[in-house]
Amino acid sequence: MHFVPTMGGLHQGHANLISAASRHKADEAKTLVSVFVNPLQFGPDEDFARYPRTFEDDCELAEQCGASAIWCPDEEQIYPGGMAESWRVQAPKSLQSGLCGSTRPGHFDGVVTVVCRLLALAKPHQLFLGEKDWQQLTILRRMVLDLGLAVRVRSVPTVRDGDGLASSSRNRYLNAQQRQQGVLFAQVLRDASSAFLHRATPLDLGQLRFRLEEGGLSLEYVEVVDPWLLQPSKPNEASLTLLAAAVRCGSTRLIDHAFLMTRSPLVAIDGPAGAGKSTVTRAFAKRLGLVYLDTGAMYRAVTWLVLEQGVDPADSAAVEVVLNDLEVELEPLQQGVQAVRVNGHEVTDAIRDPRVTASVSAVAAHACVRAAMTAQQQRMGEAGGLVAEGRDIGTAVFPHAELKVFLTATPKERARRRALDLAARGHEVPALPELEAQIVERDRLDSTREVAPLLQADDAIELISDGMSIEQVINALEDLFRRRVAEEVWPTPV
Ligand code: PAF
Repeated sequence: MHFVPTMGGLHQGHANLISAASRHKADEAKTLVSVFVNPLQFGPDEDFARYPRTFEDDCELAEQCGASAIWCPDEEQIYPGGMAESWRVQAPKSLQSGLCGSTRPGHFDGVVTVVCRLLALAKPHQLFLGEKDWQQLTILRRMVLDLGLAVRVRSVPTVRDGDGLASSSRNRYLNAQQRQQGVLFAQVLRDASSAFLHRATPLDLGQLRFRLEEGGLSLEYVEVVDPWLLQPSKPNEASLTLLAAAVRCGSTRLIDHAFLMTRSPLVAIDGPAGAGKSTVTRAFAKRLGLVYLDTGAMYRAVTWLVLEQGVDPADSAAVEVVLNDLEVELEPLQQGVQAVRVNGHEVTDAIRDPRVTASVSAVAAHACVRAAMTAQQQRMGEAGGLVAEGRDIGTAVFPHAELKVFLTATPKERARRRALDLAARGHEVPALPELEAQIVERDRLDSTREVAPLLQADDAIELISDGMSIEQVINALEDLFRRRVAEEVWPTPV
């Protein structure tokens, strides 16, 4: 079941959430929408009493968007025994000390408590949340992760009205003049993001504050933070940051945000041989609409040229000469397959030749080859929008990738998979302990070699795929990607 928790007062933003939840019908899931105005997340001076309660309209909209049921629990069902005596969940301090948490003490504890309770009652497989409340979304993702709750969190981009104002239940409080101020709010953030993208001007928070205040808005906060850690960050050209703000238009509080980036996202997947990196990276790239940078094919392409020119693959000086004016091109074809060209020659099939396979490790171990390929891969990644897989992608090639994963599996599991693969291809299958010993030895060589050793970047997330199907690994990668990269920044292709 897919679940969309709301506090009612449904608007176009909710409509998109419910439609997204209902569209993911691959598993025939039903979509449940809840409406509960949660007293626990409102401060004493906040708008709990006047919060819009429009149940009839909400039912109509939810149904139009494909909801299977709408659930309107009462306070007793959510907080049995009364609010004062209720169990509470507390969000970590670091996640709620900044942004909205700084001016709404206790708000996020109220949110996590109610969502935890709603999840326990509804038991959904997927939870749909809006990216507009980015801090709430991140805190709830963390709750699901840290408490090990069995639900996948899906996010849906902020919806904006025609004038650019982000849809919110509270927009109905605004009069015409305040609405204009709200539109200015959205515009100022968008301008900052676009100037940053085009490297037109560095972000000037003072100037940004001035524009908002000059427009009659009273500022609660304007902050730049890391989108996952929610900790203050400097806007930087290396990777994605979040510019978030809250203002008051009269007595109405509005929040909005924009992402700061100078390129599309990058994903680096490293890991030992036999962990299934290329299969899952290819499929992950396809699912997210990222270009798959097949670095293995690039090293094969150099090796092909080395052999073609009759050069000894072990002769570093001779190999270095081959690198002069070398240009490897990868052109995405269908199903994640790529055409490979070396200095204009099509070598897609030729690089799979057993002669190339036998020499690629020797060629790829030369420092000059690593340097040339790394430089080329970095050029290919300048605009972002790609995922690369290898041994040193997160450490040497794209150290500023938004997501770095170290994909691995135990030697025992890799031996099991290798045996299945050999059998499927009609080869003789050595005994499992023998295969396992070969894998352990290969890992040792790969991680101790002098040039480009296999290393896990300090900030890479280790994903151990033992006991996981390929689909589960791809889902896990997708979830990791979405923790850092909003749909607003890089939408999943439909
Ligand atoms: O975003 C909201 O509407 C609420 O905070 C939520 C997630 C439904 C919890 O009450």
